[in-house]
Amino acid sequence: MCMKDLQNNAITVLNNNWKDKFSIPCAKLYPFQWFWDSGLIAIGFAHFDMPKAEKEIETLLDAQWSNGFIPHIIFHTETDTYFPGPDFHRSDLHPESSKKYKSTGMTQPPVTGFVLEDLYRISKDRDATLKFIESVIDKVYKNHEYFYNQRDPQDEGLVYIYHNWESGTDNSPIWDDIWDTMNPPEYTFERRDTTHVDAAQRPSKREYDHYLHIIEIAKQNNYNDQKIAELSPFLVQDPLFNAVLLKSNQSLIDLYRIIGNKNNNDKIHQLQKWQDKGTKSFNNKLYDEELGVYVHYDLRNEKLLKHISSSSFAPLFANLPSETRAEKMVDIMMEKFGNPDQYLCASFDPTSDRFNPKKYWRGPVWVNLNWMLYYGLKQYGFYDIAKRMKQDTIEIIENNGFYEYFDSRKEEHKNGNAGYGGHNFSWSAALFIDLLNE
Ligand code: GLC
Repeated sequence: MCMKDLQNNAITVLNNNWKDKFSIPCAKLYPFQWFWDSGLIAIGFAHFDMPKAEKEIETLLDAQWSNGFIPHIIFHTETDTYFPGPDFHRSDLHPESSKKYKSTGMTQPPVTGFVLEDLYRISKDRDATLKFIESVIDKVYKNHEYFYNQRDPQDEGLVYIYHNWESGTDNSPIWDDIWDTMNPPEYTFERRDTTHVDAAQRPSKREYDHYLHIIEIAKQNNYNDQKIAELSPFLVQDPLFNAVLLKSNQSLIDLYRIIGNKNNNDKIHQLQKWQDKGTKSFNNKLYDEELGVYVHYDLRNEKLLKHISSSSFAPLFANLPSETRAEKMVDIMMEKFGNPDQYLCASFDPTSDRFNPKKYWRGPVWVNLNWMLYYGLKQYGFYDIAKRMKQDTIEIIENNGFYEYFDSRKEEHKNGNAGYGGHNFSWSAALFIDLLNE
């Protein structure tokens, strides 16, 4: 199929997943608004329908809590096709939660800051887009303030996540190390994901027990951040999450400067302080000399989780590593993930025995991570590898369609059956459009 037709298909996917004021990631499997999906989807819309891009972000920010928190799922509609839904999550337990929207009590990688900058980059009417940005940017600032005030118990400039669903990389093998430290009760519940997607590609029942248990603990404490930091068995400083936050910090600084209103100087100053401190701690604490990449830090058990995943390379996107470190990281990426029989970039180390190229975050290629890595590689001048990252991303979509994730093994792509999870998936379509047009 020619690129123009494929791009039109991507536009159709986005328009079909648009629900008047927000987008769903895909029909059936994910029928609500998700935080980081929304941001990435807005980047796609910005190329052909800026009002929808703006509305997407406005709706997301409308669901912000009064303490600055933005939830990971906003339950706009009632449906029993998803578990766990609003009655399980009970966001109303938190005194500052939104009165207008039901949501979860957890968050997701804070992409909004850099997304606003992308809208500005893409816009054909920058004055109008800047006006829009001015109308929402303080809410995003407030979200960052929430993170640094509530999620950084050791005052390091690094924030924790308390649930694997906050990481965005929900079923990564990295979490196996945390599950080993827990022994949750066996819950009785009815899964919905496995009625939409092959169970072999989704987490196990026992893994779900862990997920629910952490939420139960948070709910028993009304989603109080201090209590969660004290009690949650899952407390992790995630390199992808923190890289996204730092990337967004920098975007807010740049955008406030472009807006150029003196009243914003204090915010710029504060953002810069977070940025400097966060960058320093990130490089000191999350880099593993032995592996030569960034890894997750288990704050509950005070140790590094020494596994290489696509999140290990996300710091390139936020311009965090030195040139020397970046070179080492890219060597490792190519050595472990870059074999000619593999598409870039598997979500987990293909040389590890935990690697599974079919299972949700345990190996398959994800378009959102590839997109970040593409821009990261380019920023550091690794043009050839960036080019391959982009071409691989386009090719897997060409071969299979706009799936949620894809087999990393090229051989599996021969029959066009190497796309897994949800189909007609919004961010795969959105970021495909961005890659074609950047
Ligand atoms: C899956 C992904 C998560 C994403 C959500 C909706 O749960 O792991 O990152 O936000 O789907 O697409």
